[in-house]
Order: sequence, then C-alpha cells, then structure tokens
Amino acid sequence: MAMASPRERSLLLSLAALLLLASASASASDDDLDYLIDNADDIPANDPDGWLQEGSPDDDDDLFHHHQEEAFDESHVFLLSASNFSDFLASHRHVMVEFYAPWCAHCQALAPDYAAAAADLAPLSHEVALAKVDATEDTDLAQKYHVQGFPTILFFIDGVPKDYTGPRTREAIVSWINKKLGPGVHNITTVDEAEKILTGEDKALLAFLHSLSGAHSNEISAASRLEDAVNFYQTSNPDVAKLFHIDPAANRPTLVLLKKQEDDKLTFYDGQFKASAIADFVSANKLPSVITLTQETAPSIFDNPIKKQACLIILLFVVANESVKFLPSFKEAAKSFKGKLLFVFVERDNEEVGGPVANYFGITGQETTVLAYTGNEDARKFFLDGEMSVENIKVIVEICPCTVPD
Ligand SMILES: *[C@@H]1O[C@H](CO)[C@@H](O)[C@H](O)[C@H]1NC(C)=O
Ligand SMILES: *[C@@H]1O[C@H](CO)[C@@H](O)[C@H](O)[C@H]1NC(C)=O
Ligand SMILES: *[C@@H]1O[C@H](CO)[C@@H](O)[C@H](O)[C@H]1NC(C)=O
Repeated sequence: MAMASPRERSLLLSLAALLLLASASASASDDDLDYLIDNADDIPANDPDGWLQEGSPDDDDDLFHHHQEEAFDESHVFLLSASNFSDFLASHRHVMVEFYAPWCAHCQALAPDYAAAAADLAPLSHEVALAKVDATEDTDLAQKYHVQGFPTILFFIDGVPKDYTGPRTREAIVSWINKKLGPGVHNITTVDEAEKILTGEDKALLAFLHSLSGAHSNEISAASRLEDAVNFYQTSNPDVAKLFHIDPAANRPTLVLLKKQEDDKLTFYDGQFKASAIADFVSANKLPSVITLTQETAPSIFDNPIKKQACLIILLFVVANESVKFLPSFKEAAKSFKGKLLFVFVERDNEEVGGPVANYFGITGQETTVLAYTGNEDARKFFLDGEMSVENIKVIVEICPCTVPD
C-alpha cells in the first residue's frame, strides 16, 4: 500500500508544483505532467480559505460564465457517508471513491463524466462500484484518507486505497478501471514465452506456484492491480522458474522481482503471501538503488512505502560534471541500505529539477552536498559532515529516530 501521510503528500505536491513552475513549457503530453497540471490548481483541502468556507474563487468563475447546468443521470454513483462507508467497502472488492466539496468547480466539471463512467461500468456492478463522499460533511473520512485537495479520487481494492491520478474524463476512468479488473497476472507456460519476457522487459515479477489458479494466484493478481509500473507473471513450470534464477526445487509459492538494469538483478520475497504486502514489496524494490530525481521519478520517491519503515531519503546534490567523482561511492552506500533507505541523485545544476529542489531544501552554492531528509511529519534534514561513506550514513541513520528494519 502506498498511502502517503498528509506531510508526505504536501511535500510531494509542493515539489510537484515547483517542478511544474520550473518547466511550464516542457513535455506537456507526458501523463505524469498532465496529472501535475490537472491538480496544480485544485483547492488544497487544508487551505483555510478553501476548506469549510462557503464559496471559492472558482465560484466566481461560474458566475462569470453562466454555465447552464446540464441534467445528467447520477443514479449509478453511490453516495457514501461515515455511517455506511466501511460496510460498502467490505461488500465491494473494487470501489472508486471521489471525495468532493459541493462548491468545488473541478468537482462539478467532473460530475457528468463520473456519472457516465459509473453507468458504463454498471453492468459489472458485482465487480466495481463508483461512489462519492462529500468531504465537507464527512470530514473524519476525508482526514482518514488524507484528502488534501478536491476532487481526490481513490480506488479501493479490498479496502486498500490507491490514488487515481489519470485524466478526469469518462473514457479515461472507464479504461483505467477495466485495466484494473483485467487478468493482472499473466501466465508463462513455456520456456519460449519466458525468454521473450526476459529479453523484452526491464522489470518483471514472477511467481512460481503449484497451480495457476487458486488462492496464491488470486493474491498475486490482486497485488498486480495495486502496481502500475511492473508486469506480474506466474508459472508452475520448473524450467521457467530456472530461467528466472529460482531453484526449481524451491518451496512454492516463491516470488522474485527481476530488474535487468541493476547490479542486483534479483530480489526474492520473504514476506506474507498477501496482496497488499506483495504490492508494498514491489513498490519498495522496483526502483533502482540510486534514483535520479526527475519530474517522473518524484512521485515514486516521495510516496514510497519504504518510508513507512525507514523514513530517510538520502539526497546527493552534485553538479553534472562532477557526478562521476561522487556517484560511485554513493551507489556503493546505497547497496548497503537497499530496500531500507532511498538514495536520490539530484543534478545540482539542472535548471528544471535540481535547481528548484536545492532551493527547496535551502541549499545554496554549487559544492557537493549530501542531505538526509525525514520527509514525514517532523520533516527534519541532516547534512552529512565529511566524506560520503557507508559509515557516515550510518551515523546519520543513528541520529535520525527512524527505525531501520533488518
Ligand atoms: C449512506 O448514507 C447516506 C446518509 O447517511 C445515505 O444518503 C446514502 O444513501 C447511503 N448510501 C448507501 C449506498 O447506502
Ligand atoms: C492462467 O491459467 C489459469 C489456469 O489454467 C487460468 O484459469 C487463467 O485464466 C489463465 N490466465 C490468463 C490471463 O490467461
Ligand atoms: C565543472 O564545471 C565548473 C563550472 O563550469 C568548473 O568550475 C569545474 O572546474 C568543472 N569541474 C570539472 C571536474 O570539470
């Protein structure tokens, strides 16, 4: 589960807004960027001028434009409240929930599309439901799910929420949900198929099971729907397992995450065989050991489940022409804290990303800086004194009150 705390989300949003400002004209067709643009002018729910107050700047817009409210059929959208929210989620495996405010113009604009998407999906009513919650009425629910802006759209799979950050149109919502309801996990039955996947994909998850259907397969399949960036495969063929470096005689189920680009290509799973735990494992381990900060990687850095256990992000700020000098030791250190801390490389003199982010952290000048950042409620930062080394990072980890799992 990749639920961000309110502090993380606001950090993410401010970094996102900052990156957006820095490159307003760059790659506008990018999905991630579209999301940032779509949400950049949403009213923050914690904005005292927006939250419980009647009226907002958007209302003035509406008065100005005198839109005619078109009638639309909202009969397939379930209105939920604190009294029936948990029961509803318990009785529906997949539920999309829109947290809205009655005065929010983005919510009003979404309403006809949301209603139409609900109608399109109504024939699948046993599998998926679209619902809405008035966040100004049910403030406790909104707080529980860290609603920070309107509308906030979450997709619950077995009660586990995931942000919907796609375009707010009927077509986009329907196709995104259909993908979530699809098979999710693909079968590999032959060595040929396995070889194709091994040559074709940078990242993949393989489950080695006794059977391609049943309880274990269902958990993998549910986990796959919580994860957008990695394809999930399952096999019961020992020869296929062998190609993925799984001992054919291993106990089943065995799960391995393959990352071709990394030095450490294989990560085996040893947690509980439950969808949410498996999805957390993939989310925490799918990133390279050192992540280069870009607009695309920012969300995965600041909204990463590793931070639930070890709240530290280690950021290396270095100018591009000096990175060859510092990156190797940074990568070496990252290996020792794999899956526990996030290591992020920030190109200090990159104007779009590095510059604004350095300013955000109060770093001036061009000298190489290593910063540890807690990124949670207390948002503390520690500057590394002395050389970049595993020992010195251990010192910071000891100063930081976070627990580092073994
Ligand atoms: C949930 O409760 C609200 C009011 O408490 C009610 O208006 C709504 O119809 C209920 N929704 C469902 C799906 O039962
Ligand atoms: C994978 O194989 C199982 C067992 O034969 C089958 O039930 C399932 O539909 C298959 N999945 C896909 C995506 O083809
Ligand atoms: C990197 O660039 C800066 C400024 O352009 C220069 O002062 C410095 O000497 C360069 N460093 C290397 C290692 O080339």
